[in-house]
Amino acid sequence: MDCGHEQTGAAENLLDKQKIPGHIAVIMDGNGRWARQRGLPRTAGHKAGADALRAVARAAGELGVKAVTAYAFSTENWKRPAYEVNFLMNLLDLYLTGEINNLNKENVRVVFSGDIAALPGKVREKAEKTVKITAPNTGLTLNLAVNYGGQAEIVRAANHIIRDKADGKIGDIEITVDLFAQYLYTASLPGLDLLIRTGGDMRVSNFLLWQAAYAEICFVDVFWPDFNKDGLCRAIYEYQRRERRFGAIKDG
Ligand code: FPP
Repeated sequence: MDCGHEQTGAAENLLDKQKIPGHIAVIMDGNGRWARQRGLPRTAGHKAGADALRAVARAAGELGVKAVTAYAFSTENWKRPAYEVNFLMNLLDLYLTGEINNLNKENVRVVFSGDIAALPGKVREKAEKTVKITAPNTGLTLNLAVNYGGQAEIVRAANHIIRDKADGKIGDIEITVDLFAQYLYTASLPGLDLLIRTGGDMRVSNFLLWQAAYAEICFVDVFWPDFNKDGLCRAIYEYQRRERRFGAIKDG
């Protein structure tokens, strides 16, 4: 399935501007294959992937999307060769350094999902600094999922709740879905509406397991570095054509 890609022409013109998804998440897959196709090292694919993220986040903001969550590094990505892990960490550092002025100019707030305390010192410091500097911004929220895993996020939330109960911060009450959601990294973001995965594989790879409960999912057959504003608009167009029922029935 290739979400929205049967459309020809500029997809942006087809969009219903009143039904723009509030929160879009992207699994940016296919960087390595994009590079291999061009006879380049995998790292060149990641560099091109960072450029694509910059463009897609900007486009999302222009369309009125409130939040974009991007899966930049999973808890499982540490298993990749050291040179690739180091490259991705440096790339994040460079991305944050190079983008901070633009992010501020474009009123973008940056937050992180994942255990950033475990990142190399200078990357962690850059991440924390970016969060602090962009905190007052009121436009798009760019949520970078780094050292992130959906299962780890849920376990972390459960452990926090246990600790807060023991410390008397929450009373002797039943845990509800709403309370649990407050303990997730995404507590300050709108609910997830649309999850896009590029690269052709059809799985969620431990990404936003809780948040994706009722998200629409688009699998796109292009490699992430080739994904752009038009691809985003096609995915949003497909999203707008779907009927979201949240477990209910039509007219029910
Ligand atoms: C998956 O493609 C992609 C990643 C593991 C890294 C994603 C990172 C970026 C797009 C750039 C970094 C972003 C920032 C914020 C600096 P893959 O390598 O698994 O591709 P393949 O499936 O073709 O091998």
